[in-house]
Amino acid sequence: MTIPTTFQRLFDRPPDTTASAPGRVNLIGEHTDYNGGFVLPTVIPQRTTVELARRADDRVRVWSASVQAGAEYAAGREVPRHDWIDYVQGITHVLREAGFRVGGADVRIESSVPLGSGLSSSAALEIALLRAFARAFDLAVDAVPLARLGQRAENAFVGAPCGIMDQMACSLAEDGFALFLDTRTLAFDRVALPPGVELAVINSGVSHRITGGDYRARRRECEEACAALGVAQLRDLEVADLPRLASLPPVLERRARHVVTEDQRVLDAVAAMRAGDAAALGALFDASHVSMRDDYEVSIPEIDLMVAVARRQEEVYGARLTGGGFGGSIVVLARRGTGRAVGEAVLREYDRQTGQHATVLVPPGA
Ligand code: GLA
Repeated sequence: MTIPTTFQRLFDRPPDTTASAPGRVNLIGEHTDYNGGFVLPTVIPQRTTVELARRADDRVRVWSASVQAGAEYAAGREVPRHDWIDYVQGITHVLREAGFRVGGADVRIESSVPLGSGLSSSAALEIALLRAFARAFDLAVDAVPLARLGQRAENAFVGAPCGIMDQMACSLAEDGFALFLDTRTLAFDRVALPPGVELAVINSGVSHRITGGDYRARRRECEEACAALGVAQLRDLEVADLPRLASLPPVLERRARHVVTEDQRVLDAVAAMRAGDAAALGALFDASHVSMRDDYEVSIPEIDLMVAVARRQEEVYGARLTGGGFGGSIVVLARRGTGRAVGEAVLREYDRQTGQHATVLVPPGA
């Protein structure tokens, strides 16, 4: 049972400010961001909300309604505890490190982005916190530097070696559009979904952790492939360079092939969206999943099953694992108006076959 604890009840005063940020779902372009490549995420309706009131001292007192727990620390004396509070400590730490004057605060966090679902609950929290602190302490930080600060908090303080996609998506993406982002330059463009389609997002109920070793191992393999090929980043290679990968040990060859072909699939997906070609976009979703499963090896049997069940639905153009992998969610491109029904049909079949408990997150239920 969760106890409804309002800011007023917790801290005996109202908040000065309320800020929020959405979770994200990546349409295509997976494990390309830390290789300098392209990504295409969009927002989901689920959000993280932060209420905050400044304090005269340096205490940061935090209540998270999501974990139903509180914690406190002193701003400027953040020490990692390997716990959820590190996301908050990381934010005040990087803000102060960047020269912003941030002191104590009372903070209440609430989120509808499910943890471990591959939908960026971490980045949604980082961006919501950054927005709340920026507003309450009058800090001038634009959306792109805000995303960089969020990533820095996660990399340098929480200790998760993520790329920049999630923070950029949570900071800049908009409903109805995908954020076509070049992660090397951070140049971006907003691209509309083709008419006549909608997304369904289904959480497998198998949770992932990117602080775990698998994500780190993939990053290392990409670096090894770059060193062996004499390139700075896998982004420097194109599909025409694929024959060069044959010189690599087989595992590295597969990892590099995923990244190089996935970058091309993002470019093709943007072209398909601009042409309004749902079938072409769906085929790219399918190809991306196969590449993540066979070459990058970040899928798991439950997710493969869910994707296969989704693809069998008549109204579906394509489906794939979204996010870092090793569990999490799938994203389905479905005919407009059918997303919820498709999601529920997939969920029923998946739950029956796996004994897991999946949830349809997008479109949200009535
Ligand atoms: C996680 C990371 C991102 C990105 C994806 C995979 O979500 O946080 O930076 O690497 O995995 O595309």
